[in-house]
Amino acid sequence: MEIERIGVVGAGQMGNGIAQVAATAGYDVVLQDIDSAALQRAMATIERSLGKLVAKERMSEPDAAAARARITQATDTAAMSDRQLVIEAATENVELKFRIFEGLASVAAADAILATNTSSISITAIAARTDRPDRVMGMHFMNPVPLMGLVELIRGLATSDETYQAVEAAAQRMGKTTVLARDMPGFIVNRVLMPYINEAVYALYEGIASVEDLDVAMKLGTNVPMGPLTLADFIGLDTCLAIMEVLHEGMGGDSKYRPCPLLRKYVEAGWLGRKSGRGFYTYEGGGR
Ligand code: CAA
Repeated sequence: MEIERIGVVGAGQMGNGIAQVAATAGYDVVLQDIDSAALQRAMATIERSLGKLVAKERMSEPDAAAARARITQATDTAAMSDRQLVIEAATENVELKFRIFEGLASVAAADAILATNTSSISITAIAARTDRPDRVMGMHFMNPVPLMGLVELIRGLATSDETYQAVEAAAQRMGKTTVLARDMPGFIVNRVLMPYINEAVYALYEGIASVEDLDVAMKLGTNVPMGPLTLADFIGLDTCLAIMEVLHEGMGGDSKYRPCPLLRKYVEAGWLGRKSGRGFYTYEGGGR
């Protein structure tokens, strides 16, 4: 199936990035969120991001304007009824995702593919909530979506070869390199990244080094673009904790994946990183 019409559910950080790269690739995009204020913020973020890409001459102004014009906003899920591929990018919460997929199964065309940007929840479990487990897949984008080259693809137990091929082709048309992961907790990226971040929080908790020294050590010592605590603030400490919990539970309680108590404490305090203005660092203007 040649995909031309894409729907994105959820206008947060990931959803707006996905809508932007899909529109840039020439897809007709509907960006849906129940919160119209979130849609407005998403459109402003897309505008800013396209503006930066034009300023850096990575995109022409007419191409940016054309991409912008390919995105329609909607507050009602019914807007997904003519989409050939729907990519869900709502908050990382199992019950919420189940509800969204149950709703999508009832409004989407019978042959539409339903993909989820979940970073850790079982694709097989999400697929089982729909009428079409063979047409459900994981399509995990990285943040910031317009700048990151990877999309992790995850097949559920029932995902068909046709679905996999169509989703892989769509990710590649969006300019991304794809990798295939088995449907196990954390897939590839978060299986490796989150224990690394969690270990950095343990190192801080145990007084091994300061926040700054931990980040400088890993940044200059291993040539990563951001130190682990800067990256945790960037991802969101609530998201990091939620993923660690999925790993811990999904691996049968293996203590190797035990979330650091300090990470939990920060989340309890509402210190969620950049988005709340404070995490391991403080950010001016709420950090957004
Ligand atoms: N669109 C367009 N431009 C953007 C942008 C966006 N969304 N976000 C940032 N930029 C711009 C910046 O504004 C900046 O522009 P200027 O040079 O004009 O200021 C430019 O890109 C480069 O940014 P920085 O100066 O901050 O420099 P950088 O080289 O550090 O690049 C970065 C930023 C790409 C985010 C880089 O720091 C990086 O790769 N960090 C690691 C990101 C990462 O690991 N992401 C994955 C997180 S894990 C995940 O997403 C999965 C999960 O499930 C949790």
